[in-house]
Amino acid sequence: MSILADKTILLGVTGSIAAYKAAALASKLTQAGAQVDVVLTPGAEKFVTPLTFQSVTGRRAYTEADLWGNEAHVLHVGLARRADVFLIAPCTANTLAKLAHGVADTLLTVAALAAKCPLVIAPAMDAGMYAHPAVQENVRLLCERGVVLVGPAEGHLASGLHGLGRMSEPEEIIGHLRLVLGRHGPLARHKVVVTAGGTQEPLDPVRYLTNRSSGKQGYALAQAALDAGAQVTLVTAPTCLKPPVGARVVSVRTAQEMLDAVLEEASHADALLMAAAVADFRPAQVPEEKITKRDGIPSFTLEATADILRALAERREAGAKQPHVVIGFAAESRDLLENARNKLRAKRLDMIVANDISAPDAGFAVETNRVTLIYADGKQEALPLMSKAEVAEAIVARLAKLLE
Ligand code: CTP
Repeated sequence: MSILADKTILLGVTGSIAAYKAAALASKLTQAGAQVDVVLTPGAEKFVTPLTFQSVTGRRAYTEADLWGNEAHVLHVGLARRADVFLIAPCTANTLAKLAHGVADTLLTVAALAAKCPLVIAPAMDAGMYAHPAVQENVRLLCERGVVLVGPAEGHLASGLHGLGRMSEPEEIIGHLRLVLGRHGPLARHKVVVTAGGTQEPLDPVRYLTNRSSGKQGYALAQAALDAGAQVTLVTAPTCLKPPVGARVVSVRTAQEMLDAVLEEASHADALLMAAAVADFRPAQVPEEKITKRDGIPSFTLEATADILRALAERREAGAKQPHVVIGFAAESRDLLENARNKLRAKRLDMIVANDISAPDAGFAVETNRVTLIYADGKQEALPLMSKAEVAEAIVARLAKLLE
């Protein structure tokens, strides 16, 4: 989560029962390396204490008493000025109205008027209040001014009612913060397609052939590209992962579906990061009915699937509009660099990420990877053992250079 590292987040907490979730939010942001300054409104203090936030952020949390304390004259300015982003979560209908109309009657709302950084708000309100025309008008005013609104989500409300008004989950809010912080990153205005996961090739209506790819490296690449400000399309085979906030997701299942999606998406993208583990073979015939034991032990004839990167290279050579930069991945269990170099040439790549899957700490379904980057001009760069998120950031940094 390096985009959050060393960033200062001013977290305003207002008087909603969702204030308890703000503590988890502050904790996650702190764990990601951010400095989190918390300001509680008097209403928030009825639900949670400053000590809760001080305990998870390791920093002083501010309350209404501070507005009238010794440092009051500079406090709101200082808090607002040092923030990279001002997040108000949860934001009640009352604070939302004050923000919309410039009311400055609490430390939080005074700081909001002094802040020059982006403002992100996560509303929380019960009993259909969010749908009230007054609230909707305030939301419209704030959005018009460039405020980023996260949620609210639909679901169970504290009153027992069901509806729109729950504060979005901390992960969702952090995803939006990352988008705001990455807005002007090195890939801003670039369209990047990332593929991820292992394709599934049906054997019959209930069974399929697949591989051990978890999709983690591809999803981490999508997140890293978003952090760098790119518009990201994630073409994904089935995985258990949650796509990063802000990515446009195209779900596919088979190698053929992935081929169709990549050819379509790549024709208007600046870069393609082909991290998916695409099946090389599929059953030549797929019965319409489930194969049963009564039928005896089945045997299958396989046929080759299309090679997506080769298909793209052919189109590139035929002059069709293709991404400026295409990066492939090579998962190898032997002759790592030689095989990767051959694939780089055969698939006409700008870079290939060579990955030794025979190592226990790299490759499929683990949290780390040890990769070597090989460029079209023959240059080679071995990266140390890193988390998949760090590998993704390193690749995206190289991508930004290649796109320059
Ligand atoms: N790839 C592809 N289409 C396929 C198979 C792979 O575009 N049908 C892409 C992968 O997404 C990866 C690169 O090609 O970026 C290399 O994949 P890999 O499986 O290592 O190589 P293969 O070409 O499939 O060769 P082999 O499995 O025989 O080593």
